[in-house]
Parts: sequence; structure tokens; C-alpha cells
Amino acid sequence: MCGIIGYVGARPCKELVLKGLEHLEYRGYDSAGMVLVSDAGLDRARAVGPVKALRAVSDAVSATATVGMGHTRWATHGLVEERNAHPFLSEDSRFGVLMNGIFENYIELRAEVTAAGHTLSSDTDTEALVHLLEDEYDGDLAETVRRLYPRLEGHFAFLVVCRDEPDRIIGARLAWPPLVVGRGDGETFLASFTPAFLEETRSIQIVEEGEIVIATADNVEFRAVTDGSVREHPIEQADESLEVAAKGGYETFMLKEIHEQPTAIADTIAERFHHGELHLDGIGLTDDELRAMNRVLIVGCGTALHAGLVGRYLIEEWGGVATEADVASEWRYRNGVFDPKTLVIAISQSGETADTLAAMQIARERGARVVAVTNIMGSAVARAADGVLYTRAGLEIGVAASKTFTSQVTLMTLLALHLGAVRGNLTTQQVAEIGNELRSLPDLVQRVLDDKAMDAQLDMLADRFCHDRFFLYLGRHLGLPICQEGALKLKEISYIPTDAYAAGEMKHGPIALLGDDTPVVAVATDSHVFEKMASNLEEVRARGAHVIAVGTEGNTAIAQHAEHVLYVPRTRPELQPILAVLPLQMLAYKIAGRLGLDVDRPRNLAKTVTVE
Ligand code: F6R
Repeated sequence: MCGIIGYVGARPCKELVLKGLEHLEYRGYDSAGMVLVSDAGLDRARAVGPVKALRAVSDAVSATATVGMGHTRWATHGLVEERNAHPFLSEDSRFGVLMNGIFENYIELRAEVTAAGHTLSSDTDTEALVHLLEDEYDGDLAETVRRLYPRLEGHFAFLVVCRDEPDRIIGARLAWPPLVVGRGDGETFLASFTPAFLEETRSIQIVEEGEIVIATADNVEFRAVTDGSVREHPIEQADESLEVAAKGGYETFMLKEIHEQPTAIADTIAERFHHGELHLDGIGLTDDELRAMNRVLIVGCGTALHAGLVGRYLIEEWGGVATEADVASEWRYRNGVFDPKTLVIAISQSGETADTLAAMQIARERGARVVAVTNIMGSAVARAADGVLYTRAGLEIGVAASKTFTSQVTLMTLLALHLGAVRGNLTTQQVAEIGNELRSLPDLVQRVLDDKAMDAQLDMLADRFCHDRFFLYLGRHLGLPICQEGALKLKEISYIPTDAYAAGEMKHGPIALLGDDTPVVAVATDSHVFEKMASNLEEVRARGAHVIAVGTEGNTAIAQHAEHVLYVPRTRPELQPILAVLPLQMLAYKIAGRLGLDVDRPRNLAKTVTVE
């Protein structure tokens, strides 16, 4: 959840580190810090808040140092205070350390270094390492790190520097937190994610888990932590485009990403149809194996789980196989029953989410086959699966997911269609018809985003309801996960409490919340549950609450049950979720804007969640 960057080369690196951190800020923005190896020793600057706060105090560190590293923090251990900001220095300022991840045995580590006479300056887990280095250093930083490594439990990627070996940065990785090396001409970068250094080089190498990396300007060596043996990794070319990281004229990344949905969906679909035929290359299971499956389990967190819930309905409908979807952090602690005929689908846009990864590992250990759905090539989730299906949404910077959600729903739709085809539940003609409708979806998404009348209506709704204290979202069937997603969007970027409920379940409790000051957002697009939704909305209106419904163009019946209707184009009900979520994304976005909030960086959140 934190972002780390390191540079060793010939150029003054302060600006390179700051720019790298700006690209990594989506991973966490509670505080930022840097340490540069100057002639005088280790120079450190830290600040609470985003990287611009660090920039403001960066005059304090050397302008000429050519070795340095930086960190942007999402707090896990210790409050958001400067003293808990990375990097940490040893008392004699000889060693510097920063980390993405967690030392799970931090209580013992902190006790150990305290007992050895060190004074801890922070409440973090990371700081213990710098004192261990101080005590254990024997003149070889890389080997000292390797010796200490078995004493560190948890999951992490960390970087260390030492004043006595000023030409190098040592890194180490355990479990999933990523660490990538960028190879330039006479310079080397280390980072959590390639965009941190893509302006400088696209040649990359991946530090694998259980490895130490020794980076100097001209050389990079990978060593196994177990026996110190040297490992070779090929140099690959990174394909993330830099342009995606710019806002491209939009006021925020989130707005840009909402508007990128037609392209993201189209790209996700495009590579799956060859000459009109659906192919799920990469799924890692043969058609015979897919036919033999008798159960599907979908796991994910947050928005990814909502995409999975849409997938659940579709896989049952088209694939004809019992399907369940669960929160990864809950499922992993259940005693899930599996056999090789269980197909597990793990969804994670970042490919790093700790709970999703853990669920995948447990599922595989118990004999299930696991397919990952992710947006990041080569991510931990991709590598931990039997097969991978990539969404093609491009890099998403806004912390609240938008284009990755609709791309995930698109991919789950393709997967359900594929299962329907191979399991003989759908005819070739049905697959072709649904495929054609799916391929026309990006145009319909574009129509919704270009709809000026809807935009004005959403402005009006945002003005009218932005100061309300609570929003209830109601839906049934495929409308329910869309309500859950809409409610999550609103709460995470506007901080307004929301709840999302199955409309039929409302009378069993949440109805008590309704009054004439409650906006109720309903997904009531055309489907076999439309009439049931209409009755539930009458129950809402009878309590004086204000219904904002998402309906289907051409079905004006919904207007009798709602104060405001946001019409989306007609498509088959199974594909409606992708259209229905759009006004909900925009409503959340506009309300947060009315409240003057930073939608790209909502408080307390981070784009990747590598802690459990
Ligand atoms: C909400 C949001 C989060 C993520 C969740 C899982 O807008 O983005 O709820 O969906 O943290 O993240 P990934 O998909 O990276 O596993």
C-alpha cells in the first residue's frame, strides 16, 4: 500500500525521487519522505500529507546527491505523524530504511532492539529493521540484510542504504509486495511500480519473492535469500504508457477514468473475439476441464467483489453451474470445501490485494483450479493463478475504481458466455447474438457519458441532495451489485454514509431509516424483477423518501414510482449493469465535488491494499 522508489546513478537524484513518488502517490498519501546519500552522510526530509508537502521541505536535503530513495505512506502501524513517516535512520544516521508492507513480528522486533539499548523514534514496525542493521552490520550490507531476512516475518519490499557503502541500494522482498528494477544507461531505479521511473527507462527486471537485490549504477545482482546464490532475470520492456498518468484535460483522474470506460470496455472485449468467435485464451483450463466443473467460487474485495457478484448471476444464468461469491477476507477464514471440480475466480484490479491472494493460495492448496481477473500484467495475483484473464482498462490512478469495475464486469460477462458455450447451455447463435450486443456496449456507454440532459439532471440532483446525511441504495438481482457499487462510490469519495440493500429485504429493517430527508437510489432497469422493484419503491415513497431511479429508456412506467429517473439505453438485461452503474458513478462524483473533496485521493484509502 505504500510506494517506494530508489535511484543509484550519476545524476543528482532529488528530483527523480520526488517525481517517482508523485507517480506512486495513488498507493498511499498519508506522508512522504526521502533519504539521499550525500558526501556528508544520509540526508533526510519527511512531511505529513502528499508528496507536495515533501517537495516543500526538500530544500533541506542535498541537491547534488546521486543515490537516494523515497517513500509515500499508507499508515498501518502508527498514527499519521511525521515521526512515523519513512525513511527511518539509525541513531548514528549511518543506515536508512523504508518499506512497503508489514513486519508481523514487529512487537518482538521492537522489544528486541529496545532491549539492545536503542531508542525508537516512531511507532512503526519498519523502524526496528534500521536498528537491527546497526547492530548486525559487518561491512557487507547485502549479506547483513540476507542474514537478517529470516528474522523478519510478514510481507514486504524494503530498501536500505548505508553511509559506508554509498554507491548502492539493497532491496529485499517477501511475499507479494512488488519490487521492480529499472535499468538505465549507467543508472538503476528500484520501485513498487514501473510508472515511478518510466520517463527514464522502460527496461525492467522483477525482484522475485525471497530475493535480495543489490543495485549500483552499472550493475544489478539478484541473490536468493536462502543460500546467497546469484539468480538471473531477463530484462523486459515495460508496456504501461506514461500518457495514462496525465489527466488529459480532465479536472481529476477519476473523471478522466470514468470517460475512458468506452475504450476500456472495448479493449477488454476486442482481444477476445477472433473473426467473431469468442476465445478466452489464457484461462488455463481446457474446455473439457471447464465442462467438468461443478462449482464456481468468486472472491475479491470492494469493487472487485461487486464485479464478481454480477458475474455470479451471469455464470449461473448462462454457465448453468452453482456459483457463489464472497469477500476474500472472510472466505479465507472459512473452512471452504473444495475439490478439483471447483473453479475459483479471483478478481483484483491491482493484482496485489493481500486477502484475495491469500484466498487464491488456500483454494489451490485445497485442490481447486484458480483463474485470476486482473488489470496488471505480471502482478502477484496473475502469477499465483492457473490462468489469467486481463482487463484492458489501462492504469487507473483515481483511488475510487471506475473503469476497472466496468472492465471487470465485461470480463465476467465474457467468462460467463464462454462457460455457457463450452458447457452447451447456450447455442452458437445465442453466443453470437449476445457477443454482438456486448460489442455494441462501448457505444452505448459513450452515449450515456455524452448525454448532456443527464449531466444537467445529475448536477441538479447533486445540488439538491449533497447535504443529506444518508443515502439508501436499493436493487434486486443484477441491480443489487450495481447498487452496492454505487453506494461504495458515494461513501468513499463523499464520506456520506450509505447502505445498499436487496430491495426485498428492506422491509426487514432498513425501512426504519426512511423519512422525508432520505434520498433512495434505485436501480430499476428492465428485467424480470422490474414489477417487484416498482412495489418496493412505492413502500419507500409511502415513507416520504425521495426516489432517484435508474431506468431503461423507453420504459416510462418507472416514472410513476420515482421522483427522478436517470434513463440509460436499452440493452439485454444481462448487460444492463455496465450502463446502470454510470449515472451512479457520476452522481457520487458530483456530490463529492459539491462538498469540495479530493475525489482522487479520498481520506484513509489507498489504491492497492497489500495488508490483511
Ligand atoms: C473502491 C475500490 C476498492 C477496491 C478493493 C480491491 O473504489 O477501488 O474497493 O476494489 O480495494 O482492490 P483490487 O481490485 O486491487 O483487489
